[in-house]
Formats: sequence, C-alpha cells, structure tokens
Amino acid sequence: MSDTVSDAADRETQDRDRHPLAMETLVALCAARGFVYPASEIYGGIAGFWDYGPLGVELKNNLKAFWWRRMVRERDDVVGIDSAIISHPRTWEASGHVEHFSDPMVDCRTCKRRFRSDQIQGERCPEAPRQRAITECDLTEAREFNLMLRTQLGASVDETTTAYLRPETCQPIFSGFKRVRESARQRVPFGIAQIGKAFRNEITPRNFTFRSREFEQAEMEFFCHPGERERWFAHWREQRWQFHLDLGFDESLLRMRPHASDELAHYARAAEDIEFLFPFGWQEIEGIHDRGDWDLTRHTQYSGKELSVTDEETKERFMPMVIETSVGVDRTTLALLVAAYRQETLEGGDERTVLGFHPAIAPIKVAILPLSKKLAEPAHAIHADLRRHFNAFYDDAGNIGRRYRRQDEVGTPFCVTYDFDSNDDHCVTVRERDTMSQQRVAIDGLADHLRELLEQDL
Ligand code: GAP
Repeated sequence: MSDTVSDAADRETQDRDRHPLAMETLVALCAARGFVYPASEIYGGIAGFWDYGPLGVELKNNLKAFWWRRMVRERDDVVGIDSAIISHPRTWEASGHVEHFSDPMVDCRTCKRRFRSDQIQGERCPEAPRQRAITECDLTEAREFNLMLRTQLGASVDETTTAYLRPETCQPIFSGFKRVRESARQRVPFGIAQIGKAFRNEITPRNFTFRSREFEQAEMEFFCHPGERERWFAHWREQRWQFHLDLGFDESLLRMRPHASDELAHYARAAEDIEFLFPFGWQEIEGIHDRGDWDLTRHTQYSGKELSVTDEETKERFMPMVIETSVGVDRTTLALLVAAYRQETLEGGDERTVLGFHPAIAPIKVAILPLSKKLAEPAHAIHADLRRHFNAFYDDAGNIGRRYRRQDEVGTPFCVTYDFDSNDDHCVTVRERDTMSQQRVAIDGLADHLRELLEQDL
C-alpha cells in the first residue's frame, strides 16, 4: 500500500511525542554554539561531512578519553594502537570489503537522485513530497554500490595504484596482530583497541552526523581460544552496556538488539547492537560482534604470514576467535547531545536551555565569572590556576544571570563567581548547573573541591 502524506505526518507526530526534542532545534543549537556544523559551510556544505567546533571537539575528546580509559588504561588484557588510515590494498580483498561491502541502490530517472533501495519504504519523494512516495517514482532496478572511498597513490598517472580510505578501523588491528602480540608480550586472550577515522561513501547520508561519509570509530578486537568465545562475547556485551550507562544515558533510552541471521555482516557469526532512542527512532550506536576466525584466517591466506598461535601450556595450535566491540564516536556524541538537551521554565517564568552532560563529558568544566569587571584581576588569577587542571573558561561580559544561562546552554557543570567579599574572605561562590545551588568555597581548596565533584561516579 502506498504511503500517504497523512500517514507520514502521523508517524512524525508519534516520533515527536516519544521524544520531545526536534532535531532542527538541536542542529541549530550545535551550529550557533560551535559544537558541530556543516563542513565547507561557506560553499554550501558537502553532504555527509561535518566539522566539530571549539566545544564539539572538547566533547568528542572527552568521550574518546573515557573510552580509552575504560577499554585500555584500566585493563591488563587490552593494548592500544594508532594505525595508518590507508592500508595495503590487499587488506580489503582479504577482509571481504572489495567483494561484499556494498549497499543496494536505485536511481530516479526523473530527478536523477540516488537512494538505498532498502531504505525507501515509507519515504516521500524529496522533489515532490506531497505528490508521491519514492516507491512511486520512475526508479531503475536495484544495483550493488561499493561503499569504499578510493584514492590513487603514486606520482604519475601510469604508475598509480588504487588504494582505499579504510571503511572500518579494525583491519589494521588484524594485519598487525602478530607484531602487537609479540611486542606487547601479550598472550591470548587479549585485545587490541584503536580510535580513528573511517570513511564510507554512504548513498544517503542523513540525520545530522548519524550517517556520515567520514566518521570516527572506537574499536576493540579481543582474541580468544575457540572454546571461550561465548564467555567473552557475554563479558564484552555486559561491559559495553555498562559503559553507556556510565556516560550518563538513562536506561530507558538504550536497548540491546540481537541481529537476525539474515542481517549478519559477511564476517559475523553473532552480533548485537546497542541502540539509542534518537528523535528519528531507535538506531544503532554500537555493535558487538563475534567475528570468529574470519579475519585472521583470511589475512593468513592473503599475506602468506601465519597468524595462528600456540598455547604455551597445552602446545595446542589454534587460530584465535575474535569478539569485537565497535562504537561510533560521532553517533555517541550525537546521542550525548540528544540526551543532555532540556528546556526548563524557572520560578518567575524565565526559560533556560540546559545541556545536562555528565561533568566528566562536559566540554567546559568550570566557568570563572567575576561579578564586576573591576574584579577581573583576581578572577583571572583563579582562571590561570584552574585551567592547568581542567578546561576552564573566563567570562566577564554581561550580567551574571545571562552569563549563567550561556554556560547552562553549553553544559558547563560549575560556575565560580568572584564577588566583592572574595577579597576579604578568600572564598568564591560555586554554582551547580542542574540544581542552581550555590556554595561558598575557599579559593585555596577550589581545584581539589572541583576535581572531587567532576570525578564523581566515573
Ligand atoms: N568493524 C565493524 C564495523 O565497522 P559497523 O556496524 O559497520 O561495524 C560500527 O560500524 C559502528 O560505526 C556503528 O555502530 C556506528 O556507530 C558507526 N558507523 C558506521 N557507519 C557509520 C556512518 N556512516 N556514520 C557514522 N557512524 C557510523
């Protein structure tokens, strides 16, 4: 049955009811306050590419630092790497991406637009949304479209080699497995982690940064004995679920979704997604995959280098199985923004917008706000001290109420006000974002006091 304008409108209303935040509101806030905005904006943008501004880069870096801390620093059995974005082209033959990494696409013969054929059900034609659904357009047969971005290496045209910008960060983990295991003196079971850029020529990038052509992944490949794969899958599933709760996500915004057998990627034996409830519906932010021995076996075949291992006690030779955790940094950053956004009406009727980030994730940890410009000098001294410990921001422009609102809107958990009593009592007022409660704190112990508050629960 073809989709009508009123069906689409009903669906949109239902989604909005489930999630009061409209994406346009968030997109506008992100651009206005310098979180995220279109790449090459002055040229009209470029679809699927985004720039992170001064606050966005801090937010994303905090997320990555927290992931690294949990996944690498706090564990004896996981080590980190940072590999090249471009790998030997054979890597992508071995991984199966040259053969399998494609989406089915259709072209509209009238408007020449391209769509993913598995994503057009229920969508309206962008050229004439009131007249027809995309399925009613003059579409070509579905064809497979490889999503890897290509580039050319080499100086002259006749000597160039085609290479690919990596579509996932994990393949260099597999090709470097032997080197890392030996150099880090690790034994199976152990894991290798990295955070980095990945590129996919998505046919229809959309939903802000959710589906981009350039994005970041934080991936960890855990190598274990074939007899232990189920135990490690369960372990990592639990660890990764807890990670998202620790980021401050309310449990009602998260769910686990096991893949049906016909959904599994070519390498996967089992997979579960962690999904987040975005304003545009439940969508994957992380995948936990049992990749079996697909990758190490294929790289052994394609490189001719043996990647199996020997158990030192039993002398058994085996190809390790791989349990992967793969989270999208941009998708999780977007989820953090969605979950943090709220609009409040205060006593007296004033409105405020708040980004209620967990303090450890907030881009600015503390803002130093002298009550008057006359107090700039001692306030600057406090700022100079605090910024050695955390990202601290100084602002003496405008009335104090307006300055608090500006900090609420970018999620700053604490504001420090230096007032006319501070010269005498050597104390400042620390104001907390969510409760707006205020506390007098000695300047001497201020950095320690804030550190304690910032590190709570993490
Ligand atoms: N190595 C396995 C792998 O890449 P995936 O499910 O294709 O698995 C893992 O991707 C994660 O990467 C996803 O859960 C998602 O968060 C992120 N991701 C994938 N494609 C993306 C895109 N086009 N834009 C933003 N993030 C993306």
